[in-house]
Amino acid sequence: MCGIIGCVGRGSETLDTLVHGLSKLEYRGYDSAGVAMADERVSLCKKSGKIEDLRDALESATLSGSVGIGHTRWSTHGPPTDANSHPHQDCQGDVAVVHNGIIENYQSLRDELVAAGHTFTSDTDTEVVPHLIEDALAEGAEPEAAFRQAIARLEGSYAIAAVVAGTEAIFAARHDSPLVLGLDDGATYLASDVPAFRDFTDQVVYLADGEFARLDDAGWEVTDSDGVSVEKDVDTIEWDPEETGKSGYDHYMIKEIHEQPRALRQCLRERVDEMAGTVDLDDLGDLSPTGVQFVACGTSYHAALYGAHLFREAGIPAQAFLASEFATSVPPIGDALVIGVTQSGETADTLSALRAAQKRGARTLVVTNTVGSTAARECDHAFYIRAGPEIGVAASKTFSSQLAALNLLTLGMTNSDDAREVINALRELPGDLQRILDESRAEDVAEMYADAGAYFFIGRGLQFPVALEGALKMKEITYKHAEGFAAGELKHGPLALVTSETPVFTVVIGDDEKARKTVGNVKEVEARDAPVVAITDGQTDVHRYADHVLEIPETHERAAAVLANAHLQLLSYHTAAKLGRNIDKPRNLAKSVTVE
Ligand code: F6R
Repeated sequence: MCGIIGCVGRGSETLDTLVHGLSKLEYRGYDSAGVAMADERVSLCKKSGKIEDLRDALESATLSGSVGIGHTRWSTHGPPTDANSHPHQDCQGDVAVVHNGIIENYQSLRDELVAAGHTFTSDTDTEVVPHLIEDALAEGAEPEAAFRQAIARLEGSYAIAAVVAGTEAIFAARHDSPLVLGLDDGATYLASDVPAFRDFTDQVVYLADGEFARLDDAGWEVTDSDGVSVEKDVDTIEWDPEETGKSGYDHYMIKEIHEQPRALRQCLRERVDEMAGTVDLDDLGDLSPTGVQFVACGTSYHAALYGAHLFREAGIPAQAFLASEFATSVPPIGDALVIGVTQSGETADTLSALRAAQKRGARTLVVTNTVGSTAARECDHAFYIRAGPEIGVAASKTFSSQLAALNLLTLGMTNSDDAREVINALRELPGDLQRILDESRAEDVAEMYADAGAYFFIGRGLQFPVALEGALKMKEITYKHAEGFAAGELKHGPLALVTSETPVFTVVIGDDEKARKTVGNVKEVEARDAPVVAITDGQTDVHRYADHVLEIPETHERAAAVLANAHLQLLSYHTAAKLGRNIDKPRNLAKSVTVE
């Protein structure tokens, strides 16, 4: 999704700082990029394509000033062209604006501005903003007041930053789209996400909805919608800039897959009392839910399905909903606790669902990776998965950490008969996972099936979300058709697609009734000549029907889900690598999806 960077106070390094910030936001997904700087005039350069294309264009551009803003655009209104790239300008070229989000009333504003004589040069919703600022300036408003007047006309979601000729300042505002300030000696940054300036500072201030910021040589100020100064907390970012580098790996995704043991240890650290067999849920207090509704999207939805299963096992009614469906047709909530699962904490669908739940009086909790995110601030409670920054667009380590965090949450909120057993399995999990990462034969399997036309993934119970996640990962980064099914559902239709050309990956854990039934389903696909790859702890005879086995050690089935998923992550990664895909930035996808 779109990214914003701004900086004041870096003198002749301003332009390099902006482009560096944009490169750090690349992981969010984008299709064009641009920068604008201000001194007596506003100068800008923007290009569709990659940051490299922008760099090339900058070689022949003349930008000047020690105040600037930059943007990576992920198209919503209008295709990815140079003209649609941000920053956008007014008719005089005295104002430049970058924007994340969607301005819902842009068409009526545009009609009004066109009728008043303004000329538009792009298809974007954003372009109304510089023209509104231009009008306010023409009526004699000071730049900051003109910016506020323009923002007051907008409906929708936005993080917006603007520069104005003759004013060495950045003006910014947020509503439903994140903005964070970075504070350094003599320099101030503004960004949609911390990695944009993390190389320069770890001191940050998160803007809240409805707040405005002004950055200039004198420093920074945050104000509310009435212009009254707001006292803000300064937070310290705990992760290292190094964590956002590739550390010698070919891709962020494989680096992040390998970071999972460490991420899991961080998630568990100081939260589990092994002697007492109890879990400490930070300062969540006693939530004692009588029912739980999860809302989430994509990979996080798969984690939510797993979480709902855990609550049900503990005797608490629980369901997982796709956030985009929940927000528009909210089912009765009663006094359920609504739990959002979101890595970024900024996913628009999930935020909408949580807000809809809050409107109906529900208590909300978010399980997230991102301290200071919108979800963390808006929900009644936040529980952090502590996975560290994830740059690869396809979620990997954050899924494992979500599963671990959801185990902690259920153990801390419910009385499980097998709490000790789960805690022991969680304690062993980082080590078991490390062994899988070191020894997995998933790359060999990927080599064998990289040319397959389609892939199917099946699992039952807790392994069903793992099958869904295996398929999602495969389709995201290989662009191949892949589907995950509840193992028992295969024979109700999808079996028609199964042939000798469609490898079926099956997760079979334990030797209970679920596992035995899944083996029965495996026999059904084997009888249709489909190649079978079993991810199993070897407790059933599934190997007799499988062409290949990816082993995991015997452990609690909750931990087994994380281990089985690691094989599937490696499988997708190596398949995508063999196909030469853009693994860290798959086509059409964005890391943080801030539109509904
Ligand atoms: C898949 C993936 C997405 C996200 C989804 C929700 O690899 O990353 O499906 O899981 O967009 O994002 P968050 O968790 O940030 O709410």
